[in-house]
Amino acid sequence: MSQDTEKKAAAEAAALLIEDGMIVGLGTGSTVAFLLPAIAKRKLDIRCVATSAATEEAARALGLAVESADEVDRLDLAIDGADQIAPDHWLVKGGGAAQTREKIIAAAADRFVVIADSSKLVAEIATPIPLELLPFGLAATLKRIGHVTLRDVPRSPDGGVIADYTGSAADPERLAVWLSSVPGVVEHGIFPASMVHEVIIGRGKTVERLTRAL
Ligand code: A5P
Repeated sequence: MSQDTEKKAAAEAAALLIEDGMIVGLGTGSTVAFLLPAIAKRKLDIRCVATSAATEEAARALGLAVESADEVDRLDLAIDGADQIAPDHWLVKGGGAAQTREKIIAAAADRFVVIADSSKLVAEIATPIPLELLPFGLAATLKRIGHVTLRDVPRSPDGGVIADYTGSAADPERLAVWLSSVPGVVEHGIFPASMVHEVIIGRGKTVERLTRAL
């Protein structure tokens, strides 16, 4: 079964979690691209916040009401894709370079639901880990991180330089703490399991709702 079929199945299942009156965070990427029409089709009275210009544009084109994230201090639900999903529900995100905005929105949501095709399930988290770096003092930040490559993509909408950590990710929790402690690292793509409320995986045309391995 194609990955797109699985992405669509997961996205459509997640769209059913949305109720009238909710403030909903919209992630970024090819899985979320299936989510937006599934939400629009339900014709609910909701307010949305987007994690990227691409998502905002696509959502508006489908008639969804998108508000600025600057004015919204909490959300009922956020739905987003992921690049890697470990059995304990630690995630890696940021393949599309939107991890900073995505993490802010996921953290502000009462429920953060991850949608993905089955290829995103991994036995353990591995590098590369996406990074957003402050341009100021970039050379010093890169030297401190050590194992890092700059990504050949435009800066983030917030002016951040996009890079990938390429060292060891054997202990994701420790790595997340360390990356957050490096001056100049705006955000990294490791999302802790404590942030994730539900993982919906497409399996063929159906979905699996995963419970976390403790
Ligand atoms: C965007 O920066 C990412 O975090 C995406 O959410 C992640 O890369 C999943 O993208 P796809 O749905 O395109 O696989």
